[in-house]
Amino acid sequence: MQFWKPGTAAPGSSLDRATETEQNVLSSAPLSAAISVQSARERLPIYKHRDKLLYCIEKHGVTIVVGQTGCGKTTQLPQYLYEAGWAVDGNVIACTQPRRVAATSVAQRVATEAGSLLGDEVGYTIRFEDVSDKERTRILYLTDGMLFRETLIDPLLSRYSVIMIDEAHERSVYTDLILGLLKKIRRKRPSLRIIVSSATLDATSFLDYFNAGNSPDEATIISLEGRMYPVEVGYLQESTPDYVKKAAETVWNIHMQQTPGDILVFLTGRDEIERCLEDLSEYIPTLPRTAPRLKILALHAGLSTDEQLAVFEPAERGTRKVIVSTNIAEASVTIDGIKFVVDSGFVKIRIYNPTSALSSLATVPVSIASATQRAGRAGRTSSGICYRLYPQSALNTLPRTTPPELTRTDLTTPILQLKSLGIDDLMKFEWVTSPPAESVLRALENLFAAGMVGEDGRLTVIGEKVSECPVEVNIARMLFQSKEYQCGEEMLTIAAMTTIQDVFIIPDGATGALAELERRKFTAEEGDHLTLLNAYNAFTRYGRSSSWCKSHALSFRAMSRAVSIRAQLKKYMQRFGLPVESCQGDARRLRQCLVSGYWRNGARWVADGTYRSIRGNVTLHVHPNSVLFTRKPRSGWVVFHEMEETKKTQIRILTEIEPDWLLEYGHSFKDKRTGASASSTHMQDIQA
Ligand code: CDP
Ligand code: MG
Repeated sequence: MQFWKPGTAAPGSSLDRATETEQNVLSSAPLSAAISVQSARERLPIYKHRDKLLYCIEKHGVTIVVGQTGCGKTTQLPQYLYEAGWAVDGNVIACTQPRRVAATSVAQRVATEAGSLLGDEVGYTIRFEDVSDKERTRILYLTDGMLFRETLIDPLLSRYSVIMIDEAHERSVYTDLILGLLKKIRRKRPSLRIIVSSATLDATSFLDYFNAGNSPDEATIISLEGRMYPVEVGYLQESTPDYVKKAAETVWNIHMQQTPGDILVFLTGRDEIERCLEDLSEYIPTLPRTAPRLKILALHAGLSTDEQLAVFEPAERGTRKVIVSTNIAEASVTIDGIKFVVDSGFVKIRIYNPTSALSSLATVPVSIASATQRAGRAGRTSSGICYRLYPQSALNTLPRTTPPELTRTDLTTPILQLKSLGIDDLMKFEWVTSPPAESVLRALENLFAAGMVGEDGRLTVIGEKVSECPVEVNIARMLFQSKEYQCGEEMLTIAAMTTIQDVFIIPDGATGALAELERRKFTAEEGDHLTLLNAYNAFTRYGRSSSWCKSHALSFRAMSRAVSIRAQLKKYMQRFGLPVESCQGDARRLRQCLVSGYWRNGARWVADGTYRSIRGNVTLHVHPNSVLFTRKPRSGWVVFHEMEETKKTQIRILTEIEPDWLLEYGHSFKDKRTGASASSTHMQDIQA
């Protein structure tokens, strides 16, 4: 059967043919000896630009580095700076990443190259996990969010001599915010050097941004020529109703028909990845005995660091490696040996509707820039093939680039943090791209309603404290309100449990039905928050063991992480003088306290079993994992933790509440435009 239109190259791709002599340029050498590490480093494309890069960084405040994924920006640049003396006298070289996975995997790699123990000279910092040493670490990889947070404590970021903002093309919220701050900091501390690194060519916007209002040689661009092998692109003849199934089928066809070489599959999230893995495992028994083996691995943010690192290990001889990944593998991490890419053509992104004030994850078609980048993953070490799971005609409908995250996200937490930095006039802040006025207004209203910003637009005392908490504003507010309800003990646990993902699992060797039976043992009829609380309490009561978790269908890794996050949040509670006392499981008090944080996420049950959001009247479906999936809440009302848009809008982690509690938490909210108080606004909504 013919699935593909062969030989059609992707528009917008600039994948040059490399010459024979460069065949091995990008393959990594064995790391057994320092010599081979050094020569492998020297073989990376970035190496011949080393001196020029160091010269530019010396001469210019801001150096914008553009180069193909895999050419050595992330791993090499910080090491060049270190070797050139930028880390003497206690100075630190920072390199930010939008993703946790990238920060940890790259720090591990650089520690190995530099012959250092991870957490010693080379370290990383991600939320709730600090593997660095205040005295000794010279090269620090950290998420952009963590660097932004650091400005709250040290506004001039004075311990850093150079700050590299990596993967800037992704335009994550915190990348944009930190770029805005760095522009300010540079004026106060001209010795600071900034590197902005991007895998795509539209980097001139960064150049214009940094030069505006500064001397014209403030910023400069260096392009690292990225030599790539040709990638042939194939398309489906017709669009597919189920790209996950199609992906599995395509992987299988590649394995049966194509020459050796590993396969990278792009799907949008964990659920899809697991479904694809299941589909693939059904093909395995039909594998002829003489055929090469398949080693199938998942890559997504919910995995442990060890599980994530497993994808970098080469497969044994005669085995083909298949990595089924989210967008993580698009630019943030480099996996060697990929010859085939299977691209679903979709990506999951966070979007925000300022009218309903609801933020959600939505699966949307990728941009042309992403599709090109994904295809390029197949051409790093030799020529390759990219299979796009959509017809070529669909290309015309794809957007050119993905809009910056700041323009499609709830700004409540970022604006609280900006205010905490003393940036009260948001119009004067030098945004790389301005967020929509309506999102800013909504965020200010929310902060005002939550008592975190006063009439004068400045942070209140509590707002000041909440801005320091490493959790979203709504969760922080619950922690603060727990004092009133004397349930700090329980709220801490709930806050930690909602921060982690994938608590309930199907253990190896168990069935879904069995796992479901185990899960029911923790079920609280009030909803998912109290169910999570029960699971946590049982975990600590029964010795925190992995075998206990396995027999109760809980993820030991997730539970251990919850314990660690809870301990860290507890320190914040203590610092703010909040009592950590227990309400002895008083469900009413706990639910009231939940409403203090989630009052914006209220929803009403309707007769067809779906819900309507209070704001915006959006139709919401309950996630099948919820304990309220099949049951109407007695009061008819719930609050929920988050929502996700796939084919329909689903809400996750629900708890039943009384509707008048919602009124209580809107009480200080005044709608500036109408002068009406929120109580009446909500009342109308509720009665509608
Ligand atoms: O940042 P950029 O995409 O330019 O490249 P990089 O992440 O610095 O990677 C440079 C090279 O290091 C890649 O070509 C990989 O061969 C290798 N690498 C690796 O083997 N394992 C890692 N965890 C990271 C990089
Ligand atoms: Mg990189």
